Amino acid sequence: MIREFPQDFTWGVATAAFQIEGAATEGGRAPSIWDTFCRQPGAIAGGDTGEVACDHYHRFADDVALVGELGFPAYRFSTSWARVCPDGRGPNAEGIAFYERLLDELENTGIEPWLTLYHWDMPQVLQDNGGWTRRETAEAFADYSEVLYTRFGGRVRNWMTINEPWCIAMLGYASGEHAPGHTNPREAAAAVHNVLLAHGLASERMRKIAAANGWDLNLGIVLNFAEPKPADPADPGCQEAARRIDGATARIFLDPLFRGRYPEDVLEDMAGAGLGSNAQPGDFALISAPLDFLGINFYGGCAVAPPESGEWGIIDDDEAALIAGRPRRSPWVGSERVQVISRGKPRTAMDWEVEADDLRALLVRLHEEYTGPAGIPLVVCENGAAYEDVPDPAGYVDDSASRGLYYRQHLAAVHQAIGQGVDVSGYFAWSLLDNFEWAFGYAKRFGIVRVDYETQQRTPKWSASFLGAVARSNSLSDF
Ligand code: BGC
Repeated sequence: MIREFPQDFTWGVATAAFQIEGAATEGGRAPSIWDTFCRQPGAIAGGDTGEVACDHYHRFADDVALVGELGFPAYRFSTSWARVCPDGRGPNAEGIAFYERLLDELENTGIEPWLTLYHWDMPQVLQDNGGWTRRETAEAFADYSEVLYTRFGGRVRNWMTINEPWCIAMLGYASGEHAPGHTNPREAAAAVHNVLLAHGLASERMRKIAAANGWDLNLGIVLNFAEPKPADPADPGCQEAARRIDGATARIFLDPLFRGRYPEDVLEDMAGAGLGSNAQPGDFALISAPLDFLGINFYGGCAVAPPESGEWGIIDDDEAALIAGRPRRSPWVGSERVQVISRGKPRTAMDWEVEADDLRALLVRLHEEYTGPAGIPLVVCENGAAYEDVPDPAGYVDDSASRGLYYRQHLAAVHQAIGQGVDVSGYFAWSLLDNFEWAFGYAKRFGIVRVDYETQQRTPKWSASFLGAVARSNSLSDF
């Protein structure tokens, strides 16, 4: 069976600035919260940093050529806020010039750019002032978006404001796993709102500039999903656990974006952390302004069950466990004690369960409840997997049975969702290159192209040729 994708379906690969660029002190780039976080003992596996990463800042032309050779018509990347606006608000000509060179290269290679404004690397100077716990940061983000959109809006059609608000707020301010490494549920709840507000304010600015210049703007935001299912579908406690985690990870962003309010049940679950208490009149009108698409990132789903103790949360701050010498706590604010139950599925090197039907179900649900009624498409902005790759002496990785299979199954799931009437208009694999996998450093490899960090040599894996062939033929053959 050959699964044909819709005409005009967008095929691409994705990356993010901090994970690949390196050149942390070049071109007027200021330190970001991730530079600072990398220096905290125990924060990053192996003490890795983003100082060199994939050295993409110097090798971008070769990397763009590679995207073209592999056969991808689109490339999703992020711009570094600390490179473009080192002080958080004002332009840095050298930083902007780097992205200009990148865009030139993409244009010359015939690759469509998809630009994400924020993939987690906030200028440290803004964090020093409170970061996402402060409303001023949302305003600074709007200034930054204006700097870039004014410059590039005429040549880049596809823009994403924020990548994964949940990770930003909950991993950054509640669990402490990501920069800035805080473990305070109240800060996390404030960050939820300010990140959404940043999206709303930036969108308003960009729409105005687009209208004034007659530019065609395709604007979205990118959310990630845990797809929690009740471990025992018939058990009310498991159903309640799934409702809570779905609320705390997905509906907490979907409802403000599509319905202009936080869901009542989530407000209740997170009342102890003060969710929504920093909202001001007019915020929700900005946040719920129509999107052109919803970006979704999906890696794996999970099954959940109620806490053994019967107490859902909130765990007091002083209960944050010390992991590797640093405080860590559950990112599920208000439902910290919910248990994740193994479904016995195969797992990736991240220990995430692989069940492609979770992606189909997610797409169907989002289409039915949010994007379908809004009349907008879904775009899979990230999907992929880390595995323990074993390179041959030439550096080639045959990942057909691991990452390759993961991609086949998930592409089949996307195709099936489309067959069920879901409007999905694109798919981006994560990631083009092995890269800096946040708290895991370089130990986890998500690339479809292997990076030898000693030599910076790039070697496409089996999955790269496979995905390139899918993109070229706009179809997936049987397996
Ligand atoms: C992020 C990527 C990350 C990937 C794998 C996503 O949450 O957007 O930056 O590398 O997941 O963990």
